[in-house]
Amino acid sequence: MSLSSPLGLLAEITHRCPLQCPYCSNPLDLIARSAELPTAQWLDIIDQAAALGILQIHFSGGEPMARSDLVQLVERANDRGLYTNLITSGVQLTAETLAPLAAAGLPHVQLSFQDIETNAAETMSGYRGSLEKKRAAARDVVAAGLSLTANFVVQRDNCTRVPAMIELGAVMGAHRIEIAHVQYHGWSLVNRARLLPSRAQLDVVTAAVEQARATHAGKLVIDYVIPDYYADYPKACMAGWGRRFINVGPSGNVLPCHAAETVKTVPIPNIQSTSLSEIWTGSALFNLYRGTDWMAEPCRSCDRREIDWGGCRCQALALTGDAAATDPVCSRSSDRPKIDAALAEAVGGDAPLVYRRFSR
Ligand code: SF4
Ligand code: FES
Repeated sequence: MSLSSPLGLLAEITHRCPLQCPYCSNPLDLIARSAELPTAQWLDIIDQAAALGILQIHFSGGEPMARSDLVQLVERANDRGLYTNLITSGVQLTAETLAPLAAAGLPHVQLSFQDIETNAAETMSGYRGSLEKKRAAARDVVAAGLSLTANFVVQRDNCTRVPAMIELGAVMGAHRIEIAHVQYHGWSLVNRARLLPSRAQLDVVTAAVEQARATHAGKLVIDYVIPDYYADYPKACMAGWGRRFINVGPSGNVLPCHAAETVKTVPIPNIQSTSLSEIWTGSALFNLYRGTDWMAEPCRSCDRREIDWGGCRCQALALTGDAAATDPVCSRSSDRPKIDAALAEAVGGDAPLVYRRFSR
């Protein structure tokens, strides 16, 4: 497989976060503030990313606004010609905190919403006043002339509110809306039986998205991410392992996806000892599941192997114990009964939510 430049870099600059979402996708082992990379190292990573041909950088976390050097990082990325995106919960975003980011060249903010009803939003985020702060943040983003993506996270309890979510996004002036079902990785696996919607609930959401797409055609982009447990084939996670994207974690670990530290069979490369370019082209981790040579049957001879790239390696590892297995979501996988069992278990599951706290 010929290797091109990566397209995007996800800069997970901190795991610190004021929210406690039960579906957090960050690793189970969080990096403490004392182990985070210093500003100079992040500036160098941005320089290396630009030199490697990367076009977009997404500042994420945790909550990226928890770092006091975010403006400096955005400014450097802008100076180096990278398109910058801030992925934030919005609870620390105000007109005052946004102004220096906008002045540093930030063109786009992606704001996540747990729900559109106050109590439900607070229950899911574990943060009092979260919805009010997020709505105010959305107003500030639009007023500052930045592009806004409103990301609504969907799970069993808020499926019926999807039409209202889309209307709220439109009223707030979002350029793009994401209706994204929880993906069951990392911490969300702990709460899977509590959060997974039924097939009937999924169908309600899908119909609502289709209706809204027709209503807002040509004016508003509405992306839709289903829980892949209900799909016949897996998603092409990260557009294929080591094909398009690089994640850099708070302590400088460089990964093909945010969960790749769960793969323990090869060393995890770190930016403090190896350059981004060397890691991209030569590291054992990035080459482990790159392309199709690593595949066993049924993927090896499957006509979809260069469409979904065998699905998600981390999901295969979490659910089968083997990162090289076919993603169990796939209807051609011998492990598909594990997914069907999880769906059956989820119907009516009402266990209490287990929150994600940074101190855990
Ligand atoms: Fe994708 Fe492998 Fe399933 Fe084929 S067998 S659809 S390549 S996961
Ligand atoms: Fe790691 Fe999908 S999350 S490959």
